[in-house]
Amino acid sequence: MSVPVLTFFNNKGGVGKTSLVFHLAWMLSEMGKRVVTIDLDPQANLTSAFLSEDDLELLWDADDTSQRNSTIYQCVRPLTEVGDILAPQTQRISPRLHLVPGDLALAGFEDFLSQEWPNALGSGSLYRPFRILSSFWQVAQMAAQQHGADIILADVGPNLGAINRSALIGTDHVVIPLAADLFSLQGLRNLGPTLQAWRADWRKRVDNWTVPAFPLPAGSMKPVGYILMQHSERLSRPAKAYKKWADRIPSTYQQSVLNQARSPLTPPIDGDCLARLKHYRSLVPMAQEVRKPIFQLTAADGAIGSHSYAVKDAASDFRALADDILKRIGQEEQPP
Ligand SMILES: Nc1ncnc2c1ncn2[C@@H]1O[C@H](COP(=O)(O)OP(=O)(O)OP(=O)(O)O)[C@@H](O)[C@H]1O
Ligand SMILES: [Mg+2]
Repeated sequence: MSVPVLTFFNNKGGVGKTSLVFHLAWMLSEMGKRVVTIDLDPQANLTSAFLSEDDLELLWDADDTSQRNSTIYQCVRPLTEVGDILAPQTQRISPRLHLVPGDLALAGFEDFLSQEWPNALGSGSLYRPFRILSSFWQVAQMAAQQHGADIILADVGPNLGAINRSALIGTDHVVIPLAADLFSLQGLRNLGPTLQAWRADWRKRVDNWTVPAFPLPAGSMKPVGYILMQHSERLSRPAKAYKKWADRIPSTYQQSVLNQARSPLTPPIDGDCLARLKHYRSLVPMAQEVRKPIFQLTAADGAIGSHSYAVKDAASDFRALADDILKRIGQEEQPP
């Protein structure tokens, strides 16, 4: 049995994907889940949120990384020659939270993935194309096995390229963070059809390999819902503009992502909105400074006075979001 993968995805940048993966990974681990996070964005922001400068230097700036397995790129790089995937050496963030670090060099894997995509539909040997196209999922599963993980959370960059296509075919559940603006709405209109195309194209490839030599991801990419970020930098605009775009999201999501036609006369039911995430203001730099989630900030970190109430609010916001996501993906806590 494979471990479920949950990816936070939107081709619009800066909508809080990385922050959400960071905070939810911590929250789920505090709730007793064993969590593996994987940083599939070549910008590697998730990795720098978790690790200190010194740790990053050891990962990325070593003299010879060719024999190493400490980042996602190092684990898949042998595929670009004659080798196979390396089992990852993960970073232990807490006893129940481990990270497969990202790598700026992963950007160089994009063209390679792109070239292999048609080969998986060919009539020649299918072993290598499938090994390459499913390599992120294979590495994530190896990490999950090492740590007995219940769930894998993946962070990806903001685009619809071949790295993200490979990340998404290895994804069971997709959460879409959004801002209330024209860009996000337009992004949503591209995102839904792209997910549908990737799902169908992967299915065609899997059907082409009648006797697979190793397990493959199902590529189900089931939409879990969206999260509306209220912190957009454009929030200096009047609240009216925010409302205008926020009101259009439910029906655009239903049409583009869920592929559900809706009569213009029926008001959309906003059952797909997982949360409206607050702007956490000065708690954000405070938390980044100590590389902690906002809800773990203490007085010693500077969270005093009204900040300490905001920390408690953040804890209950993220707890509610984590509970809702677990329920929607069928992983809710079983009563003892
Ligand atoms: N709830 C929040 N309150 C305040 N600031 C936030 C919140 N969530 C995210 N931010 C800030 O917004 C910025 C963008 O967030 P983040 O990096 O998580 O977005 P992203 O979608 O991963 O971006 P990219 O597309 O570049 O990967 C960061 O500076 C982050 O600290
Ligand atoms: Mg990011």
